[in-house]
Amino acid sequence: MRRPVVAGNWKMHGTRAENARLVEALIEASDKASGEVVVCPPHVYLWEVGRQLKDSSIGLGAQNVCAEAQGAFTGEVSAAMLKDVGCSYAIVGHSERRQIYREDDALVARKFRAAQAAGLVPILCVGETLEERERSVTEDVVGRQLDAVLDVAGVAAFAKAIVAYEPVWAIGTGKNATPEQAQAVHAFVRARISARDATIAGGLRLLYGGSVKAANAAELFGQPDVDGGLVGGASLKADEFVRICAAAA
Ligand code: PGA
Repeated sequence: MRRPVVAGNWKMHGTRAENARLVEALIEASDKASGEVVVCPPHVYLWEVGRQLKDSSIGLGAQNVCAEAQGAFTGEVSAAMLKDVGCSYAIVGHSERRQIYREDDALVARKFRAAQAAGLVPILCVGETLEERERSVTEDVVGRQLDAVLDVAGVAAFAKAIVAYEPVWAIGTGKNATPEQAQAVHAFVRARISARDATIAGGLRLLYGGSVKAANAAELFGQPDVDGGLVGGASLKADEFVRICAAAA
């Protein structure tokens, strides 16, 4: 049995005061969720949010991590630092990092390894653009993104990782993948990992991300290979996010 997980990716939103209100509401509702719940605030707020979450069951994750362990990398934050301030998870390879900050498959693989080396669970994001979907190369793209990490980190590393399928065309657009579209790619991802190790693939949690909201969460999470969600916009509204978490549990 794979325990469902819902992670909220706050992206570059929030203030200390807004975060405190949001987290308070999430903690209040958290005993109702039997799945795992994670929030990923901007780096600068991690410590404070982590303190607020201290006695709760809600986990803390970072939205990004440096591939290097330490040294002269101005502006970067290492995996060990994220661990030190209370993170258990780190998102790697989000499409906004890949597209806007030109992170390629090789860099994403190094970030994945760096996160794991520090004891963080990487949440590896994969997904195709609209143009790629229309060219029917979704599986080529997602397969390539997965293989880049599998080749560098090895399949055993996926025993302590989460994969999020996030079609780029569904992120922040209000246009979610249909449950059937999500299931098809999730099954492909699991089969790709299974070709290397069926046991690890069977236990691997696969999240869907891209315009998840309370209204579509149950249907998406009801698919056999969808084990929860990575939620952007809707994770900033407490009652909406709580309803999404309930749909996963
Ligand atoms: P969205 O973002 O839920 O706002 O579409 C998802 C994500 O980018 O992780």
